[in-house]
This record gives sequence, structure tokens and C-alpha cells, in this order.
Amino acid sequence: MPDEDQIQFNKMVNDGLSRKYERLHGDIFNDIEQERLGKALKKAAEAVRTGAEPAHALDYGCGSGNLTGHLIELGIETVSADISEGFLDLIKGNFSRTGLSDVLAINGQDLSGVEDARFDLVATYSVLHHVPDYLGIVGEMCRVLKPGGVIYIDHEVHESYYDRTNEYVEFLSKARPAVNLRRYLKLLLDVRGYKHIIRRLIDPRYKREGDIHVWPDDHIEWDKIEQLLISEGFEVVLKEDYLLYKSIYDVDVYNEYKNKCVDERLLVARKHL
Ligand SMILES: C[S@@+](CC[C@H](N)C(=O)[O-])C[C@H]1O[C@@H](n2cnc3c(N)ncnc32)[C@H](O)[C@@H]1O
Repeated sequence: MPDEDQIQFNKMVNDGLSRKYERLHGDIFNDIEQERLGKALKKAAEAVRTGAEPAHALDYGCGSGNLTGHLIELGIETVSADISEGFLDLIKGNFSRTGLSDVLAINGQDLSGVEDARFDLVATYSVLHHVPDYLGIVGEMCRVLKPGGVIYIDHEVHESYYDRTNEYVEFLSKARPAVNLRRYLKLLLDVRGYKHIIRRLIDPRYKREGDIHVWPDDHIEWDKIEQLLISEGFEVVLKEDYLLYKSIYDVDVYNEYKNKCVDERLLVARKHL
């Protein structure tokens, strides 16, 4: 699909699912993941060296405000940006009373209209794999950061996810319910969802939430992101590979395996002063 059509498709699906997004995403909205994310964002905020008080952040691909909420809790003035008006309306409803929140409608291709060196922190979580030219967007994030500012990229699959190590396969087989009756029943009753099954039969790479770079031969390449950041004058201040906790997992199994295998990466880097 041409990039512009893909972005229009993503805008349409995200407008449609914005109000049920948090209910659909037990991989994000659970206590274990929220605690990890809160701590990681705090470390990123502490790594900022721009001297700004308060700091100004951009939450790129904000969705319902997962990062925005954490950033505002840290006292950071946050511009929440998304291609979906549905999500931006949610942000206005949920955060405008804090006095620290603003929204920005973006085109999904670049950050045109945003001046150079505007932000102290630019953060993005579970977004790059939806963006056709994801390296181009990382370049734009670099551009809108001040010297001493920090880029935070999180919740993107680590390459080892595709390697399927023995430990990881064992973890998945033990952590996920053997038969997820609730899931099958939901799929069966969701008659409107049948169209997605048909589209998937026609196009095996069709994803109902507009994921693009999520395949063994087309996925987020962390090495390329890191090389780009270094070429833009950034230094890596935090790189953490972790095993994502999803609410469908057995928590005891997760605790047993969380130090044995990983499937996601967090990268935090600072622009040279
Ligand atoms: C999986 S959601 C993640 C939302 C949010 N960051 C979170 O932490 O829950 C993906 C988000 O990316 C947005 N998105 C999709 N394509 C995009 C693009 N090309 N540029 C910017 N945002 C995009 C969607 O509208 C949606 O809000």
C-alpha cells in the first residue's frame, strides 16, 4: 500500500478504536508494565540537560495518553501528537484540566510545522512499527529536540523476538492460557470483526490496527535507529531489553522467565550540547 494510503488507513482505524483502546490493550495497561514504564520515563526525564524548567515534551503517537499521563505526573508540559482526531479528543478530555497538556494533529510522515529545537524530551511508545518511514520520523524527532534534550523510544520488538530462542518459546507455552476460551468466544461474537478475517485471507499482511513493520523480513531495526541517532550527534544513555508483561500471562511464569529472555527494547539517547 502506498505510504499515504497506509497513513489514511491507520487514521481511520485508530479513530474507530480510540474509545476502546485501553480495554483492548492488556499488553500496556497492566500494573507491571505501567510500573516499568513510569520508572523508565523518570530516568529519561532525569537525563535531560537543557536546563529548562519545566521541561517540554512531545508524545509522538500519543494514543489515549499512556505516556502523556506519566509525563504530566512528572510535571512536564506535554504536547500529545497523533494522526487520529479520536485520540486527540480523548487527550483534551482527560488532560486539559492539568494545565500541562496541549495537542497536535500530525500527518504521520514528518513534523512539518514544528520548529527545530522546540522540545526537551521526545517520547514514543509502540508507534514506530505503524509508521511507513519510521527512520525518517526518528530523524524528525532529533530535529525538534534541543541540544541536551532526550529521545525516548519504547515498546518496540527486539530482534531476538524473531529468533524464538528455546527459553522464549518455553516461556510463551507456559505463560499463555492453553485454551483461551474468552478470546475465542469474543472473536465468535464479534460479527463486525469478521471483515478483518476476510481481509487477512485476501492480504496475509493485513493488520486491523495498522501495524506495518512487524514481520521477520520487515521489522524495526534497532541498529539502524542507533546509528541514525549517533550520526545526529546523540549518545545512548539507557538501553534496556525486557520481557513485556501482558495481562494474559501467568504472573508466576513471567517472574520465572523475565531474566531469562526478552522481547522488547527501550532506548534513551541524549543530543550533544
Ligand atoms: C499502539 S498505539 C500506541 C499509542 C500510545 N503511544 C500508547 O502508548 O498507548 C499506536 C498509535 O500510533 C498512532 N499512529 C499510527 N500511525 C501513525 C503515524 N504514521 N504517525 C504517528 N502516529 C501514528 C495511532 O493513531 C496510535 O495512537
